[in-house]
Amino acid sequence: MQSQTYEDLSFEALNTPLEDWRELFNFMTKKGLKTLFDAGAGNALSAQVAQAEFPDLSVHAYEIVGDRMAALDLPNQQLKVCDLMLEPIAKCDLTFLYLPTGPLLERILLQLPHHALIAAVESHGDLFDRLDECCELVTTIKMHAKRHNPFMRIYRYKVSTPDLRQKIRELSTSESLLQLEIKDSDLINGEYIWSGDIQGCIVESSGIIETLWPARRFSINDVVAINKAKWPELVLQRRQGLWRKIIVSPVALKETPQGERIKINEN
Ligand SMILES: C[S@@+](CC[C@H](N)C(=O)[O-])C[C@H]1O[C@@H](n2cnc3c(N)ncnc32)[C@H](O)[C@@H]1O
Repeated sequence: MQSQTYEDLSFEALNTPLEDWRELFNFMTKKGLKTLFDAGAGNALSAQVAQAEFPDLSVHAYEIVGDRMAALDLPNQQLKVCDLMLEPIAKCDLTFLYLPTGPLLERILLQLPHHALIAAVESHGDLFDRLDECCELVTTIKMHAKRHNPFMRIYRYKVSTPDLRQKIRELSTSESLLQLEIKDSDLINGEYIWSGDIQGCIVESSGIIETLWPARRFSINDVVAINKAKWPELVLQRRQGLWRKIIVSPVALKETPQGERIKINEN
């Protein structure tokens, strides 16, 4: 297989510059994103900037060429020398990609959950074209780097609807407390995410999902994640009719059959 380690590349071509990491980290701070996975981290400028200037952020910088990170001492960051063709990715709030298209990229994409956020930069090649196929564009960030495309792109990854539909149908058949997380909004609460049991749900050919607990119908396009139940006892109580919606964010709430919303004590 062709090497993707770029032995002969200059420092500038290999690494995204400091200013652009700052821009990205300011974006993350504004959005409340705390962890970044730098997939193929080069000299780990990502982790160096986070260590020096963004104490609330944690960078997981994985790189195959050990020498590129050998001299670094970054106590608050997670540096790892490894081959991402063999090792699993780090599950973070944001995955950073500055890689060519090909098997490594595909392997990383396969491990991302539905609705994962990706930050991507491109200097040449067709990374953006590949991501356009499977992601929706959230926003762009103007870059300082001279060798890169002038904009960094923030994407939201979407497992294709046929795949997601198939996955939900498979999971619906077994006993579990797994939850579909669904985005929603209303006038009082604005945007929020609630969760419903995947067990026993029906996925119609039209893309409408009907859950049993709570009894609701919504579009598969509103499903943002499939997760373990955060509050298993509430999920079991809901099956007994005690609760309707369980709201997971931005504020954790449980809804009574009368529609009253009560804060969930998360401790
Ligand atoms: C273009 S550089 C990007 C560096 C850094 N992400 C940045 O933007 O500053 C891509 C890096 O990915 C690394 N890489 C390539 N294949 C890899 C693999 N299989 N596992 C881990 N890292 C890999 C290369 O060695 C290179 O340092």
